[in-house]
Amino acid sequence: MARHSRVDFANRQPLRVAILEAERILAKAGVDSARVDAELLAAHVLGVERGRLPMVPLVDPPVIEALRQLVQRRAQRVPLQHLTGTAAMGGITVEVGAGVFVPRPETELLLERSLGGTAGVPGPLVVDLCTGSGVLALAFAHARPDATVYAADVDPVALSWARRNADLRREAGDTPIRLYSGDVADPALFADLDGTVDLVLCNPPYVPLGSALSPEVRRHDPARAVFAGNDGLDVLRHVVNCAARLLRPGGLVVVEHDDTHAESVPALLRTRRVLTEVVDHTDLAGRPRYATARRTDLTLRT
Ligand SMILES: C[S@@+](CC[C@H](N)C(=O)[O-])C[C@H]1O[C@@H](n2cnc3c(N)ncnc32)[C@H](O)[C@@H]1O
Repeated sequence: MARHSRVDFANRQPLRVAILEAERILAKAGVDSARVDAELLAAHVLGVERGRLPMVPLVDPPVIEALRQLVQRRAQRVPLQHLTGTAAMGGITVEVGAGVFVPRPETELLLERSLGGTAGVPGPLVVDLCTGSGVLALAFAHARPDATVYAADVDPVALSWARRNADLRREAGDTPIRLYSGDVADPALFADLDGTVDLVLCNPPYVPLGSALSPEVRRHDPARAVFAGNDGLDVLRHVVNCAARLLRPGGLVVVEHDDTHAESVPALLRTRRVLTEVVDHTDLAGRPRYATARRTDLTLRT
């Protein structure tokens, strides 16, 4: 047996002990989800699902060292997803890293509502505004292979991540999405789709300037992906106008917002007479999280 491949039985350590130590270091560094992050980093190093960790009782010194290095970086508040290189949404994972917004678990709610709201629409035409890594557009296309999905972002770095993820999902067999460089404030964005779209979904930047943020967000998410003016509504105002223009009568818009926007975002949607059935929705913890509306057909109104 070659020297470098000899298994070092004598120095094997219980994985459980390494995870406990990782949890202790992360908790001390102020990481909220210290145990979960410790387990996810261990699973990443070992190349197994987190649920299979109990089946790995002992690990070799190189595994302990690799975990130690990742835990050190996580303790410096580098986002977990930058260390693993991936983020999950719906039935897919996308690649993420420097220069692109890390998709959040709570955005799953937006995806679920979008899929539920178009379940009865055959071959839906979908537009994902502010697509970032492309995660929502790609997760939608994965769940609905019959959909035609357009997506846009203004940031060239975000778009390069989205292109890479779109290539990976196409290679995995998903229906390709159509990615564009575009500003949601541009009245010509997707103008050829005006009045024809079944679903507009959007997780825009919505944090009011000056808000307190975790070190992960402050140092690693691009500012343009996070902040949107003093009230956090600068981009959402354009998203509402764009949705009102793009949707067909009966079409649905689903937009994520800050938990301080429970009234302002529905009010913004109601400023457009073509948008009706405006509803705000909470997450599992009861926090206001996203709003929906449908486009009405004004010609049918008396
Ligand atoms: C909060 S991130 C969301 C990314 C992705 N949809 C997700 O859920 O992970 C917001 C994205 O909006 C993009 N963005 C900001 N202002 C924009 C604008 N005016 N037009 C289009 N995209 C914009 C940013 O570049 C960023 O990628």
